[in-house]
Amino acid sequence: MSETTVEPERGTASDEQTLGTTVDGESDERVREEWTDYRFDGEAKLSVEDLNVWYGDDHALKDVSMEIPENSVTALIGPSGCGKSTYLRCLNRMNDRIKAARIEGSVELDGTEIYDPNANLVELRKRIGMVFQSPNPFPKSIRENISYGPRKHGDIEKGLLARLFGRDDTDKETELVERSLKQAALWDEVSDRLDDNALGLSGGQQQRLCIARALATDPEVILMDEPASALDPIATSKIEDLIHELKKDYTVVIVTHNMQQAARISDQTAVFLTGGVLVEYGDTDQIFENPESQRVEDYITGKFG
Ligand SMILES: Nc1ncnc2c1ncn2[C@@H]1O[C@H](COP(=O)(O)OP(=O)(O)OP(=O)(O)O)[C@@H](O)[C@H]1O
Ligand SMILES: [Mg+2]
Repeated sequence: MSETTVEPERGTASDEQTLGTTVDGESDERVREEWTDYRFDGEAKLSVEDLNVWYGDDHALKDVSMEIPENSVTALIGPSGCGKSTYLRCLNRMNDRIKAARIEGSVELDGTEIYDPNANLVELRKRIGMVFQSPNPFPKSIRENISYGPRKHGDIEKGLLARLFGRDDTDKETELVERSLKQAALWDEVSDRLDDNALGLSGGQQQRLCIARALATDPEVILMDEPASALDPIATSKIEDLIHELKKDYTVVIVTHNMQQAARISDQTAVFLTGGVLVEYGDTDQIFENPESQRVEDYITGKFG
């Protein structure tokens, strides 16, 4: 039985962030490799191996390895600052945009390395879409919010020039807007005002619009960083129902601070703890009912974090 010891890093500026010094009430325990060795039927959509991220000298994510099954919902949970957003951003190379970030390790999408220097980032982010914590629609009409991505990728051609060349895709756009809004359970609320500015929608509607926008480019994976944290319970429950629907066709990876939400919507759960360490990863029921790690149990039962 192999065992990984995570040595506390003493004498660094970020002692509180490292394992061993721990936050209040978090016990010091060794992480066993088998706690994160999740076996499942079917294919892995994403395979992460020995992923490390540093921001300057701050080692934010440590040796994370994880296989994410396709057509399922994977929840990422853990206390603030443990690296959940950092990890999520690694999955479609969003961290590339952060100057201070240095990334080592491997992430494969359907067996192909996304960190290959020749990888096409536009194509990658089309295949792996992202929804952020606060709804961020463009200050444009509802329709344009949806069609922006497909137009950028050349899937929809519109306007005078396109018409001159006989390639006007207005019908295609109409279909795509309707399909995406229906998928995001927003169509009934906005079908009669598609040309209104998206900023006039409620927060919950704006977030569903952002999900519709992410779906419009036909992604295979959808990354969501606390997509419901700013929403009321009704809007939250709509988003949760939607995520449940989405997994039939997509692979969803979602960060949430809400443990009930993780338990309700996910098939497997990954628990990150202080110091950017993946402590346990497995079937959601097992993680919540019978975790192997004492610290995970303490976290889930609210003893710290
Ligand atoms: N752009 C950045 N530049 C420098 N350090 C960063 C940056 N983003 C995150 N960090 C650091 O990396 C660590 C992990 O941050 P991250 O945002 O991934 O945590 P998180 O688990 O998503 O937290 P939260 O639950 O509060 O959103 C933290 O110590 C944070 O300060
Ligand atoms: Mg975060």
